[in-house]
Amino acid sequence: VKVVTSVREMQRLAEAWRRQGRRIGFVPTMGCLHVGHLSLIRIAKQRSDIVVASIFVNPTQFGPKEDFKRYPRDITRDKKLAVGAGCDVLFVPRTQDMYPQGYATYVMVEGLSKGLCGRSRPIHFRGVTTVVAKLFHIVKPHLAVFGQKDAQQAVILQRMARDLNFDTRILVAPIVREKDGLAMSSRNVYLSTGERKQALVLSRALRKAKQMVSKGERKASVIKNTIIQLIRGAKDAVIDYVEVVHPETLEDLTLLGDRALVALAVKFGSTRLIDNTLIKV
Ligand code: PAF
Repeated sequence: VKVVTSVREMQRLAEAWRRQGRRIGFVPTMGCLHVGHLSLIRIAKQRSDIVVASIFVNPTQFGPKEDFKRYPRDITRDKKLAVGAGCDVLFVPRTQDMYPQGYATYVMVEGLSKGLCGRSRPIHFRGVTTVVAKLFHIVKPHLAVFGQKDAQQAVILQRMARDLNFDTRILVAPIVREKDGLAMSSRNVYLSTGERKQALVLSRALRKAKQMVSKGERKASVIKNTIIQLIRGAKDAVIDYVEVVHPETLEDLTLLGDRALVALAVKFGSTRLIDNTLIKV
């Protein structure tokens, strides 16, 4: 795998590939790659000639009290894993090149960035859309793959790409889970053994929500309350939110129509986990 750190070099490579008619697939990440990321790289590989993955722990998407400093970083391991999954180029820019002195430009998707995770992380999505817009200008991808685990992020980035006429198709890939149901996340490494066990309640609660709908339940409040009760059974769980929303507008649903997104964020100790499920009624 070729590692590129220079923004200019990455842009020149991308330009050359485009001139040669090669299709560029792109997987933006913050590193500490896990099987979920690798599935995104594989999906990009199937649909493109060249796959670029970026590793950049983006400071602008972390709040002042969040885990930017302690976010796990392991580039040597990431390199090995990325190659194994079919990545051709790893783009690892330096922070001072992405955000030089005097940096002042931000991309903001209004409305969609406010609810769900946006409520407790008010600047998070502004940071995500800003860095992804920058990365798209640098990597010039025909296709970019994101994970459904970050459901709100995926919706927001699709809106950004549409609204700003990015010439990049966005694909959202299914959540990859551990055997026991826990959604893969770089933040899972923060969990103690006890918290890791308790965290299983999240996927269990989402499965329960799905079952309720398949048995005929249509009231969002009933589904939400069942999930909340189940999660409260885990002694260290502190709920940030449990919501039943429309999968594209992210607006609250009272009654389930044809599709719904059940999304939640829960803290175990200092670790905040998110998970969700898409329900077809
Ligand atoms: O999902 C992530 O890992 C990040 O939010 C992303 C899309 C790489 C932007 O920093």
